[in-house]
Amino acid sequence: MSVKPRNLITTNYLFELFLSVLLIILTHNKYANSSNLESLSHELLSAAKEAEFFDWMKRIRRKIHQNPELGFEEYQTSELIRSELDSMGVQYVWPVAKTGVVASIGSGLRPVFALRADMDALALQELVDWEYKSKNDGKMHACGHDTHVAMLLGAAKLLQARKDQLKGTVKLVFQPGEEGYAGAYHMLKEGALDDVDAIISLHVLPTVPTGSIASKAGPVLAGTGLFTATIRGVGAHGAQPHLGRDPILAASSAIVALQQIISRETDPLESGVVTVGYLKGGQARNVIPESIEIGGTFRSLTSEGLTYLRNRIKEIIEMQSSVHQCHGLVDFMEDTPMPWPVMINNEVLHEHGTQVVEAMLGTSKLEVFHLTMGSEDFSFFSQKMPAAIFVLGIKNETLKSDKPLHSPHFFVDEEAFPVGAAFHAALAISYLEKHGGSIECV
Ligand SMILES: *[C@@H]1O[C@H](CO)[C@@H](O)[C@H](O)[C@H]1NC(C)=O
Repeated sequence: MSVKPRNLITTNYLFELFLSVLLIILTHNKYANSSNLESLSHELLSAAKEAEFFDWMKRIRRKIHQNPELGFEEYQTSELIRSELDSMGVQYVWPVAKTGVVASIGSGLRPVFALRADMDALALQELVDWEYKSKNDGKMHACGHDTHVAMLLGAAKLLQARKDQLKGTVKLVFQPGEEGYAGAYHMLKEGALDDVDAIISLHVLPTVPTGSIASKAGPVLAGTGLFTATIRGVGAHGAQPHLGRDPILAASSAIVALQQIISRETDPLESGVVTVGYLKGGQARNVIPESIEIGGTFRSLTSEGLTYLRNRIKEIIEMQSSVHQCHGLVDFMEDTPMPWPVMINNEVLHEHGTQVVEAMLGTSKLEVFHLTMGSEDFSFFSQKMPAAIFVLGIKNETLKSDKPLHSPHFFVDEEAFPVGAAFHAALAISYLEKHGGSIECV
């Protein structure tokens, strides 16, 4: 069959028409999506701000704040989480890494987007006098993990109300032992997160104004190692140093030499820290002790940097000990496990979080996440899957909620809770919308 010129024109015309319509649909869809995100996040935020919802989050947080539990001892906190999930009708797996809980909401299929909150408190005496002050002497939620749990339960409630519309599955990860116990590592080891495509965490921060959210792509927190070194010499009378081998002098040389790793061996444009935090040994003024112990931390923004620091710390302590005819032994506690990896925020997740903040709160509430040499065991997740940590502001000078994390005066502006809960939920829902039907994700 031959095609007449007239028909050819018609075919071309129809094809062009088809393309234009497709383009309009695509463009329209794009706008529809961003305004969808705006209406979705506004809806979530106003639900979380409703008095009943907000009060319920505050009650949970205050209960946990009054009963702080240390790493891997979060029995009551875990029980409270499970009873709240039970009353919402949310299913979960427990125990994961002793006290951890992993709840699931949605279709049960991939993609799987995870939201994480840590649960443990610090060994610290609370010095804030307020109605819901810690009742456990020497223990305090001074890093805001109580608020993280309350906001993640808030997100669970928001998500459960929309469970049939989720284009995949949201996993809510309640993690034990963040404060030095590598709880994240142990949860991963148990395989509870093997099917997760991406994970985010939200951490309160007293340098950012209440309700603002900060984000940054790339490295945000340092990789961190710890060390303990024992330097053994030979004890002697202080008047007869030639009969002994002085471990105090050996340690002093080692400590001075350790400071030169950063100042003389590291590129000034790279970041690194070596800090000796304690020096223990000796009792009498006129006795050279048998041995002494030192302990410290080292940090870097790259894993190569961490390895370099680790190897040089070992070499310097051992060799400086030898110079003084002592014996040095360095322990890096690598079975705990150590070091903690560098926390690198995934670029796509950072971008996604930024879009949610802009849609939900407006650009003025988006802050820059200032890189620090602090650390977070959330970085273990970032080694296994795309991960990003965001910061939620709690600073209000009137309330004195501007005290640093880990301070006995740390105090939280609870007004941030609805923002935190809604941010979690909006991130998860819109991530599944974007990636639903494909498992390539980010
Ligand atoms: C800080 O807290 C006080 C007391 O609750 C409140 O009146 C004020 O509006 C807050 N300020 C900001 C900037 O949120």
